[in-house]
Parts: sequence; C-alpha cells; structure tokens
Amino acid sequence: METIVEAQNLRKTYRRADGTSIEAVKGVRLAIRRGEIFSLLGPNGAGKTTTISMISGLVAPTEGDAVIGGHSITKQPMAAKRLMGFVPQEIALYPDLSARQNLLFFGRMYGLGGKALSRRVDELLAFMELHERRNDRVDTFSGGMKRRVNIAVGLLHKPQLIYMDEPTVGIDPQSRRRILDTVKQLRDEDGMTVLYTTHLMEEAQELSDRVGIMDHGEIIAMGTQSELTQQVGEEDRLEFTVVGAAAEGTPARVRDEVALVTRVLYDAPEQAGDGSGESASGRLTVFAEQGRTALPLIIQALHSAGLEVQSVAVREPDLEAVFLALTGRELRD
Ligand SMILES: Nc1ncnc2c1ncn2[C@@H]1O[C@H](COP(=O)(O)OP(=O)(O)OP(=O)(O)O)[C@@H](O)[C@H]1O
Ligand SMILES: [Mg+2]
Repeated sequence: METIVEAQNLRKTYRRADGTSIEAVKGVRLAIRRGEIFSLLGPNGAGKTTTISMISGLVAPTEGDAVIGGHSITKQPMAAKRLMGFVPQEIALYPDLSARQNLLFFGRMYGLGGKALSRRVDELLAFMELHERRNDRVDTFSGGMKRRVNIAVGLLHKPQLIYMDEPTVGIDPQSRRRILDTVKQLRDEDGMTVLYTTHLMEEAQELSDRVGIMDHGEIIAMGTQSELTQQVGEEDRLEFTVVGAAAEGTPARVRDEVALVTRVLYDAPEQAGDGSGESASGRLTVFAEQGRTALPLIIQALHSAGLEVQSVAVREPDLEAVFLALTGRELRD
C-alpha cells in the first residue's frame, strides 16, 4: 500500500532555559499508509506532540526528516503542508468571534473565499454538529464544542491527511463520541489518512488500523492491534484490588502455587498514615494463560497469603498489556 507519511529517524532535543537539554524524540521512524488511521499511543511526555509537530513542519527536527506525499517537510514545506490539516492539542480560535466567523477567517488564511468558502464552512458546521450554534461566540462554547470547531478548521482546505493531537482530552462524552465518529467517517467516506495521538488505550483500540506505541521519545512497538497483542502472547491479565499487607514474597508465592500464572506485579498500598491500623487497598496484576480457569486458584493463594480480594477484572490481551509487557508500567499513570 502507498505510503503518505514517512518519518526518517526524527530526533528532537530541546534546550531548557537553565542550559540543560532534553531529548524529547529519539530517532522515530514510521510509515503511514494512505487511507489508514494511525495512532500514536503513549503516556504524558512520551513525545507524541513533538513527533506530530515535526511531521507537520511546526517544529524543526534536530535530525532526520519527514516526507509527506513525496515532499520533504524540511526542504519543501509549502508543498508538504498543502496536503495536511492539523488539529493542535491546544485550542487555537478567536474567542470573541462566532464559530462561523472563525471558520471564514481561517478559510481566507488558506486562500479560500467567496461562495466556495461559505459552502465549505456550512458543510463543516453541519458535519461537526455545530450548525445550531454557528453564530454564537466561541467563548460561550464548552471545551468539546471548541475542539469540534478546531477540527473543522483543520478540514477546511480538504486535506488528504489530517493530524489530530489528543482531540478528546478533557471534554464531554457527547463531543468525544462525535469526534471519534468523525475520525472514522473521514477515513471511510472521504478516504482520508488520519494520524491520531492519544494516551487512552480504548481510543487507540476503537480507531486504529495500526498503532505506534511511544514511550520516552521512542516508538517501542508498531503494527496492527493483533500484531501487537500477539507480541505479548495469549495471556490474560487479571487485575485485583486487594486489602491487607502483602509480604515481600507474595507475588512469587502466587506464581509458584498456580501453574497457569506466569507473572505477578504488585503495587503496594499506600501506608495508612493516620495510625488507625486500617490497611489501604493495593493493586495486583497477574498474567495467566486461561485467566478464568486460574482465577479461583489465584484467589485462594492470595487468601492464604493474608490478602483479601476486593475486586477483580479479567482482561484479554490488549494494547495496555503490550505497554505493560514492554515497559513494566501502566499507560494511565
Ligand atoms: N518546547 C519545549 N521545551 C522544552 N521541553 C519540551 C518542550 N516541548 C516538550 N518538551 C518536553 O519533551 C518531552 C515530550 O513532550 P511532548 O509534549 O512531545 O509529549 P506528549 O507525548 O505530547 O505528552 P502529553 O501527553 O503530555 O501531551 C516532555 O518531557 C516535555 O516536557
Ligand atoms: Mg502532547
């Protein structure tokens, strides 16, 4: 399949005011195919915004390049940028203008005008379900509505490719639903390519044809969801909330007692600081083949180790499991 975006060993080192520097992106290579939804999934500070900013020409790479539809973003930025729309993580709108006025303004900046522009603006207001509020000032909008205007801005010039940087953070469920549906519609109905960033596994899972998992400035795994989950094997992940103080050897003991268990991670409870002697709850993550079969045996093992199980969730292999397996940490910290 045809590649529309190719990142070639992108690196970014930021210099801080105090003279120290931080390597935000450490040699990212990726190829996005025409017509797919590609997600960059990673926790806060992973380097998602820096990567997307370099690919869109907003931030100059310290090293490397990105080629968009055959045009180098560093050497032919105008030609490359014509193909792309960009929806930044931060909202960039004029608060005292209406939704419609904002779109007309940005449309003129793209060199659009006349009837063609006002038709396009009305089409996008309807598409983003903002039509009824089109003449209201943007500063009266909810965060989710502002984001939807922002997305409409990114689509004005009918780009082949759109970048969306965490477009659902901190917004109402209805706007979020509309945005996720929009992303799929853009691919399915308009054949657009979407580069989407998120720290939410559920979003990456719902949307993506392929996913790049990012951590500490690097893409640590990339592929379709089934390719990624196959990397961690067919194990289920059992997430327990437990009460009681686990002894040091508890994880090992559970693993030894239950043959189906391969790994146990334990988050010790915060020490209850009020001296009341009440034990706080801790979290235990157990990896097991056939999690449901192993469950009663694990509960029994925990019980004999002096831990009471408060809740348990059995999860089949997912992107969270991939991240956990590769980093030893959870995505949502
Ligand atoms: N302009 C800057 N100057 C200095 N450091 C920066 C700058 N922009 C980002 N960083 C640092 O680079 C690293 C990567 O940041 P980046 O914003 O790309 O991550 P992110 O994955 O988008 O995170 P988030 O989920 O918080 O948006 C972080 O450690 C961040 O503090
Ligand atoms: Mg970011």
